[in-house]
Amino acid sequence: MILAIESSCDDSSIALLSIESCKILFHQKISQDLSHTRYGGVVPEIASRLHSANLPRILQNLAQNFALSDIKAIAVTNEPGLSVSLLEGVMMAKALALCLKIPLIAVNHLHGHIYSLFLGKNARFPATILLLSGGHSLILQADSHTQVRIIASTLDDSFGEAFDKVAKMLGLGYPGGKIVENLAKKATQKNLTFPIPLRNKRLAFSFSGLKNAVRLKIEALGEETARAQSAEICYAFQKAAIAHITQKMQLYFAQNQTPKYFGIVGGASANKALRGELEALAQKFDKTILFAPLKFCSDNAAMIGRCGIESYKIRDFTPPHALNISPQSTRF
Ligand code: KG4
Ligand code: ZN
Repeated sequence: MILAIESSCDDSSIALLSIESCKILFHQKISQDLSHTRYGGVVPEIASRLHSANLPRILQNLAQNFALSDIKAIAVTNEPGLSVSLLEGVMMAKALALCLKIPLIAVNHLHGHIYSLFLGKNARFPATILLLSGGHSLILQADSHTQVRIIASTLDDSFGEAFDKVAKMLGLGYPGGKIVENLAKKATQKNLTFPIPLRNKRLAFSFSGLKNAVRLKIEALGEETARAQSAEICYAFQKAAIAHITQKMQLYFAQNQTPKYFGIVGGASANKALRGELEALAQKFDKTILFAPLKFCSDNAAMIGRCGIESYKIRDFTPPHALNISPQSTRF
């Protein structure tokens, strides 16, 4: 078994996976949404303190049902993420690896998201991966476990972050993704539109202009009217944001020889309207679309463990004293 720890942002999570079958034997996650919601975003100091209480709680639950002595390696997220959050998981991983005298595996959080597609199954490479989360919007080319290239990224905000900021502007709480998606479904008037970002041939994402357009609209309407029309605003924002993603993926597929597999990962990949548009695009370009189970789209330790299994197979270990965090990492 491999034990995995994820604490890169505001979710404390630990999982245990079978190295042979890649199946999840144990998984628990304690989210901190309620503690951050009134700030409209994650407060690192609060996140760190909660990880230091929640990670041991989860480990205790795990130890009640599994013998720690059966664990062959510890996988832990060490990059990218909030430094004070990453450190909590990394310190626990180091202590466990030293006490149990087993290897330590450093896992890149974004690399982990790719493996949310392959829980309990074999990895399917090569694949084009669209990663949409709170911190990243990336098109990736994943040729194998060790060969992942960034094809396109965002010039400013990420897709999930834009949802969070729109929710904050409308006073809807945090995280905004699910709230905005649900509210958009309630829109009755659908004539409001926002401009689709970067309608040119540049292979990149940008959400700050769209976010600004929403802000200007809210200001023009006045707070009270804007809140009364929040379903319509959410609908129009989501439509433009998804159209932007779809147009850029279309551009990439039309101009390049790309693999058969097209995987969508990251917390925002849970968005049903987005999934629908990308499914239609995949059909047009004859791609096999891959989604993670909804439960494992957002941050979780199971995907970190699944990624760690591949590193375990090639003995990609890091000694505890050499394992460092890299909060801003952009490599794979
Ligand atoms: O991958 P994730 O759990 O954490 C990061 O690594 O960032 O992604 C969280 C992000 C948040 O910005 C959240 O608002 C967004 O994903 N998100 C969504 C949806 N569910 C979560 N965005 C749009 N639609 C959703 N249904
Ligand atoms: Zn994530």
